[in-house]
Amino acid sequence: MSDLTVDPQQYVINKEPYYEEVNTEISLYEAAYGVRMPMMLKGPTGCGKSRFVEYMAWKLKKPLITVACNEDMTASDLVGRFLLDKDGTKWQDGPLTTAARIGAICYLDEVVEARQDTTVVIHPLTDHRRTLPLDKKGELVEAHPDFQLVISYNPGYQSLMKDLKQSTKQRFGGLDFDYPEEELEVSIVSKEAGIDVETAGKLVQIAHRARNLKGHGLDEGISTRLLVYAAQLIGSGVDAEVACSMTMVTPLTDDPDMRDTLNAAVQTFFG
Ligand SMILES: Nc1ncnc2c1ncn2[C@@H]1O[C@H](COP(=O)(O)OP(=O)(O)OP(=O)(O)O)[C@@H](O)[C@H]1O
Ligand SMILES: [Mg+2]
Repeated sequence: MSDLTVDPQQYVINKEPYYEEVNTEISLYEAAYGVRMPMMLKGPTGCGKSRFVEYMAWKLKKPLITVACNEDMTASDLVGRFLLDKDGTKWQDGPLTTAARIGAICYLDEVVEARQDTTVVIHPLTDHRRTLPLDKKGELVEAHPDFQLVISYNPGYQSLMKDLKQSTKQRFGGLDFDYPEEELEVSIVSKEAGIDVETAGKLVQIAHRARNLKGHGLDEGISTRLLVYAAQLIGSGVDAEVACSMTMVTPLTDDPDMRDTLNAAVQTFFG
């Protein structure tokens, strides 16, 4: 009945992803994986959550299946559905079901975006049952012993309307993520983009100024991801001021005063 036509190997990460440990998250995650504890990674956008999951999947030598969640997503998008083909109907596993069958780490990115009736399908997988009922198909999938569920969560966007139910939250262990401290972030930006430490240092300084504006006109500070973007453009020969504007000002805000403030910070270091 169950179609294990999926080759787990296709989800295995063969090359070590570049990841700098910020705290002790690697060993803590290993311990959590050891007991197959579902994990929740919290932190602002672009601070390294996805990279961390990729790194851990590689380190633990487990396949990784990532699902980007959104509010239009239905439970069927996660668990699967019947499809029509020339021979009639055929069941197609969704990514969560595939992960449970093959023993993958299943990473539900931005899970808060999904509707609550979608989120509850993970409940039986995240307690002692470790099962996934495929109601439409009439099958109860028992999760492979290696299966683990990981979700990400950006506390910045959290509103009363969009939050996880306590009964969902309390099925996970949590790890807090944030932008790395200065020296480490400089090293990440420089390594990731292949630019000199001095230039990376200036970018991080600009980010620090912008991060102070969070809540004072900016919803989010400049992420590590945007710093890497800026550094990549500079590395490929784009004028530093232009590169910073493109990556660290324009995407962040439309407010003219705020743009002036950010551009002034860029000027201070690259003007
Ligand atoms: N600790 C780190 N080690 C190596 N690279 C990092 C680290 N933290 C951040 N980065 C860099 O920042 C980029 C963005 O990180 P990532 O995509 O993991 O963010 P995220 O937290 O998943 O963001 P989002 O919530 O928007 O999905 C990475 O592509 C990588 O270049
Ligand atoms: Mg991510």
